Amino acid sequence: MLAAYAARISPDSPVDALEVGQRPDPVERENWSVVQVRAASLNHHDLWSLKGVGLREDQLPMILGTDAAGIAPDGSEVIVHGVVGADGHGVGPRERRTLLSEKYDGALAEYVTVPTANLLPKPPELTFAEAACLGTAWLTAYRMLFTVADLKPGQSVLVQGAGGGVATAAIVLGAAAGLEVTATSRSGAKRERALALGARHALEPGARVPARVDAVIESVGQATWSHSVRSVKPGGTIAVCGATSGDAPGAELTRVFFQELTVRGVTMGTREELAALAAFCARSDVRPVIDSTFALADAAAGLARLAEGAQVGKIVIEP
Ligand SMILES: NC(=O)c1ccc[n+]([C@@H]2O[C@H](COP(=O)([O-])OP(=O)(O)OC[C@H]3O[C@@H](n4cnc5c(N)ncnc54)[C@H](OP(=O)(O)O)[C@@H]3O)[C@@H](O)[C@H]2O)c1
Repeated sequence: MLAAYAARISPDSPVDALEVGQRPDPVERENWSVVQVRAASLNHHDLWSLKGVGLREDQLPMILGTDAAGIAPDGSEVIVHGVVGADGHGVGPRERRTLLSEKYDGALAEYVTVPTANLLPKPPELTFAEAACLGTAWLTAYRMLFTVADLKPGQSVLVQGAGGGVATAAIVLGAAAGLEVTATSRSGAKRERALALGARHALEPGARVPARVDAVIESVGQATWSHSVRSVKPGGTIAVCGATSGDAPGAELTRVFFQELTVRGVTMGTREELAALAAFCARSDVRPVIDSTFALADAAAGLARLAEGAQVGKIVIEP
């Protein structure tokens, strides 16, 4: 089958480490299902893998991709939950949690094999491309907003790095849930786009927020951390899922303890949260923000766009 895979590790030039070519067809496995991929989407995780973060040379070649929607063996339309090992389904209770493409081949392929318990019905209201955006960035944003920060309609949230997959999801979901959303971006065009997606305010990175917020959605890391700590209300929450710009900011411990802030890490979300997110989209006009779509054969071009940081929203790959 055709697949896009990490052929080598390249910390400085990750796109060059991706190859698109033939990989062995999937093998049937008890309690696992082979899904015909109709759409997959890229995540920053794919770039980290090619840089060697979370993926070792001796695991290569590894098919990338943590997100997919497609056709299950029974002919039904499904969304793939990309977390394997968290609940023991298909792998036994002692296997540690991994995401697709960390231990098991990922979704940038004609077929992906996952524990059958990781399949959710795709709502007919969503296209395959839209459904393929939900499993990682959108699920993580959903968990950050509604589970971890426990935000309620009428509260406020700051979303750092407005153009990203997680960030656009947080803007759209937050606005739809009645939150006052403030977004930051390095790009004027992306700030305009953030306003069009439902943000009330769009600021340059580091600019003073109109009023301190109940929670911050932090995925940028070093470049925005200090601003996040300074922008949240006393007693507020910073939900952090990533560190795209580096993970060594000053911790700002004095502000954290004096303002009694909560800092909560988030990795992906549960199958139940993914089902709730899919239902949220199906029952409303909330849809994943799709930046662009590439054929699987052109996956490297999509990845290059992600690496440049040119995108607003998700980059979809269609086999
Ligand atoms: N823990 C998890 O389960 C989980 C899940 C999803 C993602 N993540 C992590 O979260 C991060 C975002 O993921 P993603 O897929 O949304 O990535 P993405 O689409 O590539 O977005 C990254 C965004 O970060 C902003 N950014 C990058 N460098 C910056 C800098 N130096 N200063 C200010 N902003 C900067 C950019 O926004 P602007 O151009 O608008 O400024 C960019 O659009 C990644 O590190 C990823 O690994 C973790």
